[in-house]
Amino acid sequence: MDYIALPKFELHAHLTGSISRKTLHEVWLRKKQSSETDLEDPLLVMPEGKHDYNLETFFPLFSTYIYGLLTDEESVRYTTTSVLSDFLRDGVCYLELRTTPRATPTLTADAYVTILLSAIAAFEADNPQLHTRLILSVDRRHTPETAAATLALALANRRRGVVGLDLCGDPTAKPRGEVAVFTPVFLEAKRKGLRVTVHFAEAEASGSREELDVLLAWQPDRLGHVIWEDEAAKQEIARRGLCLELCLSCNVRAGMVHGGFEGHHFGEWKDVQGPKISLGTDDVGVFGSPLSNEYRLVAEHFNLDREAICGLARQAIDAIFGDEEEKQRLRCIMWT
Ligand code: IMP
Ligand code: ZN
Repeated sequence: MDYIALPKFELHAHLTGSISRKTLHEVWLRKKQSSETDLEDPLLVMPEGKHDYNLETFFPLFSTYIYGLLTDEESVRYTTTSVLSDFLRDGVCYLELRTTPRATPTLTADAYVTILLSAIAAFEADNPQLHTRLILSVDRRHTPETAAATLALALANRRRGVVGLDLCGDPTAKPRGEVAVFTPVFLEAKRKGLRVTVHFAEAEASGSREELDVLLAWQPDRLGHVIWEDEAAKQEIARRGLCLELCLSCNVRAGMVHGGFEGHHFGEWKDVQGPKISLGTDDVGVFGSPLSNEYRLVAEHFNLDREAICGLARQAIDAIFGDEEEKQRLRCIMWT
């Protein structure tokens, strides 16, 4: 089966983590030549072929390196366009990209989001086969004030393509249900009609009963990862028929699950009535497995034939944060 030709929808991809090393290197080279950076070559910091980052080594890649490289409009625009090209080349026809609004020495968080939306619109004008929507992320390390500012940015940019709010970031931050500090922001997001997805029970530290209760009370529309949830949460997820964003290579390569691909909880959830599954790459720039490869992996490790793979790809349509017209476009693509 040609997994690149299979039309695919990507609902769990972090923008900065999706930038290829080659693209980071190009930005670095340009900046180095004009003496705009003292940073090391990204190909030395993140050598090609190295994909075994764990939770301790993964998050600092952003805070101590990539964010320091991508500080200006040109590099943000260039890398965003490059990420969109990579997804398009992999056969993705609908993409929900998520990103944490961030200020740099030369950009406000507001300007950062505006640049992304303009890069997305320009790309779509030339490549109408790929439609991209933006989800803004609240990082667990943020303060409630920053989370409220992210919500305000999301609401202000709804008509330009922001469709939802996400909770992401290092799962060891705010353990024991302390993410409850964000409850007013996420409830307000839902009240105002934004859609919500959260990184759910991604690590043991973020799988406490207190946290699962807090997150489920936000009435999220989708859940990312779902690795460490308890039996009560499993039943509630099934009862609500939530969409699960499962990222196999990320989980296996980062050692977040045991037993390799065969041991991944995709195998458990695929037969549960109610929930829908959407395969995602999470951070293809770091873990190196494009969405087409994720479909190949589940086909191989879980013995799914062509019909089952097409059925899996279709499952996510009703769970996208795009509107009815977009869902109809995707149904037409999948059933023709
Ligand atoms: P950005 O939001 O576009 O800057 O993408 C990078 C950010 O996404 C990181 O700083 C993390 O906070 C977040 N992120 C990426 N992958 C994961 C993940 O697997 N779990 C939680 N957060 C993640
Ligand atoms: Zn993620």
